[in-house]
Amino acid sequence: MSRYVICGGNKLCGSAEVHGAKNSALPLMAAAVLTGGENVLFNCPDLSDTDASMRILRYLGCEARRESDAVIINSSHMFRGDIPDDLMREMRSSIVFLGAILSRTGRAVMTFPGGCELGPRPIDLHIKALKALGAEIVERHGIIECTAGKGLKGAKIALSFPSVGATENIILAAVKAEGTTTITNAAREPEIVDLCDFLNSAGACIYGAGEGVIVIDGVKTLSGVQHTIIPDRIVAATLMSAAAATGSDIEIDGIIQAHLSSIIPVFEESGCFVKCDCGTMHIKAPERLRAMPIIRTMPYPGFPTDAQAPVMAAATVAEGASVFVENIFENRFKHVTELIRLGADIKVENKVAVVNGVKSLYAANVQAQDLRGAAGLIVAALAAEGKTEISGIEYLERGYENFELLLSSLGADVLKV
Ligand code: UD1
Repeated sequence: MSRYVICGGNKLCGSAEVHGAKNSALPLMAAAVLTGGENVLFNCPDLSDTDASMRILRYLGCEARRESDAVIINSSHMFRGDIPDDLMREMRSSIVFLGAILSRTGRAVMTFPGGCELGPRPIDLHIKALKALGAEIVERHGIIECTAGKGLKGAKIALSFPSVGATENIILAAVKAEGTTTITNAAREPEIVDLCDFLNSAGACIYGAGEGVIVIDGVKTLSGVQHTIIPDRIVAATLMSAAAATGSDIEIDGIIQAHLSSIIPVFEESGCFVKCDCGTMHIKAPERLRAMPIIRTMPYPGFPTDAQAPVMAAATVAEGASVFVENIFENRFKHVTELIRLGADIKVENKVAVVNGVKSLYAANVQAQDLRGAAGLIVAALAAEGKTEISGIEYLERGYENFELLLSSLGADVLKV
């Protein structure tokens, strides 16, 4: 168990580079099993979640190794289609292997993904869609057994909600299915586009990624490819929040401006100067932020639920009241009680949090309870007076690579112990 010790109050300065997107890397690593060859994923972040994916791949019989920022996966000798419970529990998103393994071997066996840190995270949409593609699915004693004895067949699938994971699982299962699959109300996140770009370069025929309707013409074979993972828009949003909370002036390198189109206006309206040019963002915050416009988390291109906690942390020191409505996950305000320990004034009722900005936060010992909540506590601690200790840093390390080093390079006083 590691902790961060942060002496808050430093202004941040200089520039920092955003690493590759965790939420792209995980489905891409699952997609690698479909190509049956050697795949190179450049800009692949070194995180506990990507490490867990590498261990799943090795268990399945693939070769998976890291060479600096690249992960190399050779799936030509993959020989099994089950994932043991301990690996499934380690990372909720291991469910994205379901569609890929089913497509590759005709049979996938795994347990339900572990615990529930953000409230219920059902997989009913994944299961229903795979059944529509011809899979037979038995759920017993916490184990999901999926078989496609006669192969998978293209189908028309209308999602009742644009679930990111379900859209990915359908794409992975359908890419080598017989015939055409149409997904209506598909998730439109940039990570879906990244997955389809990877698969299309491997020989797939996927149209409409990034739009609400995705059409997949099944192909017989795919081959290994080299692919560069898109930058992590949530890490970028976290750095923006850190700059905003501390009245700082920094540059964030390696961003894609379009992926931040719902986030940038929030900071601009609260008084930050934001300019993006050739993949670099310059953000200059005022001494004190103004209240934020109402933030409603939504599927992309709406405001991302993953940025809610870090942006809320910045709102705690703004002048006036900011309102956050969490529409995606039921239990995504766990950071609020810890932000209150740091002196924030926040009231939560069901899915709404009202943040009354305070002049300053103060240090306290706080406990991170989920990945993005941990990022929020770090943003608040950077703005707080005194020495804050944040435990539960293992959550952070699921999605942020060497974050203490990155923040230190910007002038923050952060120590990992
Ligand atoms: C992905 C992201 C996560 C992000 C989330 C929403 C990855 C690895 N994780 O998670 O960081 O917060 O998108 O942008 O990419 N739902 C159902 N039934 C299902 C599937 C989902 O009811 O079968 C519900 C969920 O409970 C939740 C909502 O749909 O309320 C969104 O979930 P989903 O888009 O599937 O999120 P994940 O893919 O799990």
